[in-house]
Amino acid sequence: MMQKPFPQLFSPITINGMELTNRIVMTAMHLGYTPEGEVTDRLVDFYGLRAKGGVGLIVVGGCVVDETGGMANMIAIHDDKYIRGLSRLTFTVKAEGAKIAAQLYQAGRYTHSAMIGGRKPFSASAVRSKFTGEIPRALELDEIPGVQDSFAEAAVRAKAADFDAVEILGSAGYLISQFLSPLTNLREDGYGGSLENRMRFGVEIVEKVRKAVGPDYPILMRLAGNDFMPGSHTNREARIFAAELEKAGVDVFDVTGGWHETRIPQLSTFVPRKAFTYLAQGIKSAVSVPVLASNRVNDPVQAEEILRQGEADLVTVARGLIADPALPEKAQSGRADLIYHCIACNQGCFDAIFDLRPVGCLVNPLAGREGEIHITPAPKAKNVLVVGGGPAGLKAAITAAERGHRVTLMEASNRLGGQLLLNRSIPGREEMATAADDLAANVRALDVEILLGQEATRGRVKQMSPDAVIVATGAESAWPDIPGVGGDNVVSSWDLLENGRILGRRVVIVGGNALGLETALYVARQGTLPPEAFHFLAANRAEDWETLEGLIDHGNKEVTVLEMEKKAGKDIGLSTRWTVLAELRRLGVNIITLARAERFTDEGVEIEKEGDFTLVPADSIVLAMGSVSVKGLAGQLEGLVPELYTIGDAKSPRNALEAIREGFMAGLQL
Ligand SMILES: Cc1cc2nc3c(=O)[nH]c(=O)nc-3n(C[C@H](O)[C@H](O)[C@H](O)COP(=O)(O)O)c2cc1C
Repeated sequence: MMQKPFPQLFSPITINGMELTNRIVMTAMHLGYTPEGEVTDRLVDFYGLRAKGGVGLIVVGGCVVDETGGMANMIAIHDDKYIRGLSRLTFTVKAEGAKIAAQLYQAGRYTHSAMIGGRKPFSASAVRSKFTGEIPRALELDEIPGVQDSFAEAAVRAKAADFDAVEILGSAGYLISQFLSPLTNLREDGYGGSLENRMRFGVEIVEKVRKAVGPDYPILMRLAGNDFMPGSHTNREARIFAAELEKAGVDVFDVTGGWHETRIPQLSTFVPRKAFTYLAQGIKSAVSVPVLASNRVNDPVQAEEILRQGEADLVTVARGLIADPALPEKAQSGRADLIYHCIACNQGCFDAIFDLRPVGCLVNPLAGREGEIHITPAPKAKNVLVVGGGPAGLKAAITAAERGHRVTLMEASNRLGGQLLLNRSIPGREEMATAADDLAANVRALDVEILLGQEATRGRVKQMSPDAVIVATGAESAWPDIPGVGGDNVVSSWDLLENGRILGRRVVIVGGNALGLETALYVARQGTLPPEAFHFLAANRAEDWETLEGLIDHGNKEVTVLEMEKKAGKDIGLSTRWTVLAELRRLGVNIITLARAERFTDEGVEIEKEGDFTLVPADSIVLAMGSVSVKGLAGQLEGLVPELYTIGDAKSPRNALEAIREGFMAGLQL
C-alpha cells in the first residue's frame, strides 16, 4: 500500500485534552488588522481561510493583557468587553476544524510610551531598550502580583471566548524574558539576583494562569531557545526554566529564537530553513511535554524531517501560512509541489508592522484582503496572451487561467521567473528564487500554453488575435551616460549575476541600492569557504577556529560600493537592511556614500565626493544603477487588441511585491 504523504506531520496529537488533527501550528503574528483592539471582519476572514486550509492549531495574537504592554493595532484581551468579538473569531476557526489559542502578550520595556498614551512602560528594572530607545520604570514589588494577575484574567477571558488554549509569551525579550535575564533584571528583591529568583516572575504567572483556567485547559509557553544577547541566557538556562515551567503547569513549549534586540538575524531570508530547530531539541531534552520547533519552517518536507528525526513534536509555520493558507491541505493531498513558500523577505509582513501598516505578503497578494477580493470564474472565457514570464506575467497568467480564461504565456528567454532568478547567485538570498519556482510550478499545473524562447511582435500578436494582451516584459539594466562606460572592465550587475562573468581582484560596484549591495555579497563571498567544506573542516578539527573564521570572512576580492546618497540600501526593508549591512561588514566590503561616479578608466572609477575628486582603483567595475522598463511592445499593440494592460516593471521598475500584486489584479480584471 502506498504511504500517505507526510505521515508524521499529519498524525494527530492530544495536548491536555485538546485534539489536534496534525502537527502544524500557526504561531502568533501581530497582523495590524485590529485598529481598535476589537476583532474585525478582516481578522476573522484571514484566520478562517487558514483554518480551512487545514492547519492543526492557530495561535492568535499577541493579545494584550493590560493597557500598558501593547503596541498599536494589536488584539485586546484586557477587558470583558472584547470577549464577544473574540468569540466570533473562535467560532469561525473552529467551524473549519482547526483549534485556536490566544497568545497572552505583555511587552514590558519593548512598549513605546507613545502607544500607551505617553505612560512610561514598565519592566523588571530601569534598563534602556535599544528597540524603543526608552528607559522603562522598574515595577515596585507590590505591583508585581497585579501584573501577573492580568495574565490570569486574560486567560479566563480567552476561555470564556471559547479559545481551546492559551499561550503565555515568554520569549523575544518581552516582559517575562526581561525578568528572566540578568541583562534587564537588576533587582535585589525576591525576583532578582539568582536564576531561581529571576525565573520566579514567569513561573508564578504560569501557576496563576493554571489556577485560573483549571487543570484541564491547555497552556502553551513561548520561550526563547537562546536569547542571542551577549551576557544573557543560552539554551542551557532556557532548559532549566522550561523544566520549572513544566512543574508549574505548562502543557507544551513553543521554542523560538532570540530577542528583538539581538544582532543575530531571526526572521530574514538570510536565516536558513530550520536554523533554530536545535533550540527546540534542547528544550525537548529537559521536559516531558511536547515541544514545537519554530522559525523558518516553510515546507512540509523539512517539517516531516524534524518530526521524523525526533527534534520536536510539532512544527510552527507562521509566515508560511500567510504566503499559502492551503499549505497543509496541499501537503496532505499530494500537491506539495504547488505550495507558495514563504521566502522570508518580510517585505509584506514584518516591514509593514514597523510602518504601522496592516500585514500583506509578497507571494500572496490576497493576504489580509480575503473578505474583500474573491477569485471568481470569468463571465466569459477569453483568449489571453501574457507576454513575459517574470513574477508579474506568471501571476497574471495563473490568475487568469484559474478564472477560466484560455491563456498563452510567451517568454523571450528559455526560463520562467524573470529577475527573481538573479537571487539564486546571491549568498543567503537563494530563497527569494523559490518564489519564481513556485509561480512556475503553478502555471505549469494549469491549462496554460507556455511558449519559451519566443519573442512577441506586432505581427505575431496580430496573427494570434487574442482578446486581451498583458504586457509584462519587465525591465533591463540602466546603462548610464558616464565616460568610459563602454570599457571592457565594465559589466552590469544583471549580466554578472546571470552569467557569472570573471572579475579582477579589485571590484567597484557603482550603486548602493538593494541590487548593488546584494551584488557586493555575491562578489565578496567569492573565494570564501563553502558551508560543506566549513562543516567538514570543523567536524574534523582540521583547522583552528581562528583560521576557519578567516576562511569564511575573507574571500579573494577587494570590494567597494559607491552610493550617491547618504545611506546605502535605502530600498531594503527595515527588518532586512541591517542584516545585509552586517554581512557586508563581516566580509570587509567598503561602502563609500555621497559618492558620484564621474568617469570609468582602466585604473578604476573617478569619483566626486563632497567636492573632492579621487580615483577608486578597480580591475572590474560593476554597474548597479537601476533599471528601465521594457515597454516597446505595448506601444506596438495599441489599437490592435480589444484589451491591453501593462504591468510590473514594464510599467515602471519597482519590486517583486508590486509585480506580483499587479499581475494578480490584471488577472482578476479580465
Ligand atoms: C508580522 C509578524 C508579527 C509577529 N508577531 C508576533 C507576536 O505578536 N508574537 C509572537 O510570539 N511572535 C510573533 N511573530 C513571530 C512569529 O510567530 C514566528 O515565530 C516567526 O515569524 C518565525 O516563524 P516563520 O518563519 O514560520 O514565520 C511575528 C512575526 C511576524 C512576521
